[in-house]
Amino acid sequence: MRYERLFSPVSFGGRSAVNRFAAQAMEGNDGEAGGAVSERGRERYRALARGGWGVVVVEAISVVHSPLARKFGLVMAPENLESFKRLVGDFKEIFPEGLLLFQLTHSGRNSGSFSRRTCLYPGDAPPGSHLLDTSEVEAIGEAFIRAARLAQEAGADGIDFKMCHGYLGAEMLRPANLRDDKWGGSFENRTRFIREIAGEIISGRRSRDFIVGSRVSLFEGVRGGCGTAGPDELIEDLGEMDRVILLLRETGMDYINVSAGIPALTPEITRPTKPSVRFYLHHFRYAARVKELAPELTVIGSAYSVLAGEAAAYAEENIARGYVDCAGFGRQSFADPLYPAKLLSGEKVDYCIACSGCSRLMAAQLNDGCIVYNPYYREVNKNFAKNSARDSAGDSRGGGA
Ligand SMILES: Cc1cc2nc3c(=O)[nH]c(=O)nc-3n(C[C@H](O)[C@H](O)[C@H](O)COP(=O)(O)O)c2cc1C
Ligand code: SF4
Repeated sequence: MRYERLFSPVSFGGRSAVNRFAAQAMEGNDGEAGGAVSERGRERYRALARGGWGVVVVEAISVVHSPLARKFGLVMAPENLESFKRLVGDFKEIFPEGLLLFQLTHSGRNSGSFSRRTCLYPGDAPPGSHLLDTSEVEAIGEAFIRAARLAQEAGADGIDFKMCHGYLGAEMLRPANLRDDKWGGSFENRTRFIREIAGEIISGRRSRDFIVGSRVSLFEGVRGGCGTAGPDELIEDLGEMDRVILLLRETGMDYINVSAGIPALTPEITRPTKPSVRFYLHHFRYAARVKELAPELTVIGSAYSVLAGEAAAYAEENIARGYVDCAGFGRQSFADPLYPAKLLSGEKVDYCIACSGCSRLMAAQLNDGCIVYNPYYREVNKNFAKNSARDSAGDSRGGGA
């Protein structure tokens, strides 16, 4: 059988994934007002269920109504619970053995300009960002705990505690977080959120079967960011992130989803494109390092999409060598949600061409998806391009009130 290892099961905390294909969290920016899951959102997850992905991580879901990164982002709140139950119900009806994990987040300084942005430390936070005080950070921690309870009520198989891509969880970890209260400064303070908040989610879960893991940017590529040795350092030094991984393990996490970069600042690190294709090698290295450090945890690797038709062979090799347990596909899951099923049946796959079209729509706060293969998003993109051309023609005439 082709890709025998990719199609083999793997343990996931108290559960097991039927194969090693992980559909990464991908925001579609298509929630309803207030952050409930829309019919378009449900259809995206039904398509992934039909694709037979062993693990599907539902896109970033905010634990608070404000601030948000996306105008139509999802929010885990009691009034939205029924919509999340429907999402889970739809998915499980099609693919009951697939694991469905909810990614929980607070957007922090990555929030959109339409939102009331917050920051944990001033540094290079967007102008006007509100500096969170000690009790406000505590309240955010409680919101994570509440959201994890709601995720269990909704029927999710687990949660992904988001500590990557520059959102609040990552901002907290950075050496540049020099807050002088219990949430900043020393390594102990910068990791308190993991010990106390993730720790409480893990100890309070209803059953050992409820999976808890975390997505981490091992190296962010900014001064004082995760994966550097100090607040003024720029070059990669993974020593401290090794300690973070070991702490996540001690806290009782079931898996680590290894990523890198901050899409808003260092996008080519998070999602390599053709000119930066070789960055996938760094992602392979980061995942292998985590697997070596914490072999008992399930490790998901990132950034396979840019490898297109070769991705499955690379994933197979990485699994065989023990470098990773699951291969995570972000853009490929947008380009062809049926990818695993098609590899199995030998049907022609629509491969992501890493054109960044979906990312541009997301940055423009529009419904986002694959503009190459999906007619709806092709149309959204056409209108976006038309409007942008009109706006820039207006600009060149010196227009604009
Ligand atoms: C449109 C878009 C939305 C994304 N949304 C999320 C998200 O909600 N949570 C997350 O952790 N990463 C998100 N990412 C990052 C992807 O999960 C993934 O890490 C990245 O695209 C690199 O993997 P790939 O090369 O397989 O696409 C998003 C990426 C894109 C392009
Ligand atoms: S729009 Fe481009 S980058 Fe995004 S999924 Fe489609 S082919 Fe890939």
